[in-house]
Amino acid sequence: MNHFPSSGSYQIRGRIYTPLSDGTHLSLEDGRIAVDQGRISSVGPWGDGPDSETGAPVHHLPSRYLISPGFIDTHLHAPQIEMIGSYGGHLLEWLERHTFPTEAKFSDPEYASEIARLLFPILLSHGTTTAMLFSSVHEAATHRFFRAAADSGIRAIIGKTMMDRNAPDSLLETPSESIARSRAVLEEWHGAAEGLIGYAITPRFGPTSTPDLLEAAGTLAREFPDCWIQTHISESLPELDLVRELFPDEIDYTHVYDRFGLLRKRTVLAHGIHLNDSELRTIATRGAGISHCPNSNLYLGSGLFPLDRIESAGIRIGLGTDVGAGTTPSMLAAMADTYKVQQVRGRSLDPARLWRFATLDGARLLDLDDVTGSLEPGKEADFIALDLEATDLLAMRTRNAESIEDLLAGCIFAGDDRTVAAAYVRGRRVHCATR
Ligand code: GUN
Ligand code: ZN
Repeated sequence: MNHFPSSGSYQIRGRIYTPLSDGTHLSLEDGRIAVDQGRISSVGPWGDGPDSETGAPVHHLPSRYLISPGFIDTHLHAPQIEMIGSYGGHLLEWLERHTFPTEAKFSDPEYASEIARLLFPILLSHGTTTAMLFSSVHEAATHRFFRAAADSGIRAIIGKTMMDRNAPDSLLETPSESIARSRAVLEEWHGAAEGLIGYAITPRFGPTSTPDLLEAAGTLAREFPDCWIQTHISESLPELDLVRELFPDEIDYTHVYDRFGLLRKRTVLAHGIHLNDSELRTIATRGAGISHCPNSNLYLGSGLFPLDRIESAGIRIGLGTDVGAGTTPSMLAAMADTYKVQQVRGRSLDPARLWRFATLDGARLLDLDDVTGSLEPGKEADFIALDLEATDLLAMRTRNAESIEDLLAGCIFAGDDRTVAAAYVRGRRVHCATR
């Protein structure tokens, strides 16, 4: 029987690793995961289960494969997939020199379709089964990104970027235009693909927003309380100076958003490197969370994420690739870079902690942890199969792994997209490497 079932009800027998909601994890050398109508009906040691009694076909994976929850990329920019590695300058120069000209190309919906069709299979082939993305400012392009996401089978939250100052004229809109266009996309797509697709209200960041735009975004957010909100905060020091200049009446960056009701449970703030303690308390109180994007932070030279302070404040944290300031859509690389940044800050993170950041913590950040992020009965079957022998390097590294943590470390530091043999969303196979 084919190793990788395509859909329906089935059982997979093989090696399984998952974080669990109670803070522990489950590691099974010879495990079983049963999938029924897209949901996980049971997970446990192979010998314990009802196995053949369920009647669902059994797919027995050789020991070279490891089943894990799919990765959750909590922050990236769809139109920036084509501009990875556009070099020179820190955040504000990089936006002006590379990002805005690239995003301007998405005024052409056909161009947007072409990129969108490539983007989601790329994410799935890297093992990302849930993603939260910025589109460009364009309404038509955003529809195309939604269409392609739905066609690909990925779980995705997407939003039309909103900007009304400090960008090229062709990318600016008035607050009322921005709201009308955002609402049109939201009403068509929020909850689409039987709930796999959601909408995020997406003011880009402080410097490209007037108070009127943020107020309009807040009004839209109140009208749609189950929509997500995404923006950037406190990424670079020159950005902070600019925000102080543009919002002289606000005590800090966080209050620029808080004043307009933009901080709440489903708000994802990218970066948050330079927040003060009072801002951390405000973010925690509102229930908003932070997407940590270490690859991007290093690429743009934005700073080193103070993980201990954000954790101590009780703020939810997920990982993001932040493509295209992030130089890869790989969440394995996001875990590796998370490790390296905290090494510099004096803390060695455990591989199991990194894996939780990239899966269940990402789901918690997005308020989707009742649905995805771990392999537990009742959740939807969003999982990946990693091939530990995909490359000679990874095979060598993992062959003599001393523990499951060591095996995960091998995948994090010696793995890449070739490691991802198959990806599933809601029990349906949405990627299968052909080798
Ligand atoms: N801040 C505002 N826009 C962006 C963007 O596109 N990328 C990054 N890294 N930061 C931003
Ligand atoms: Zn970003």
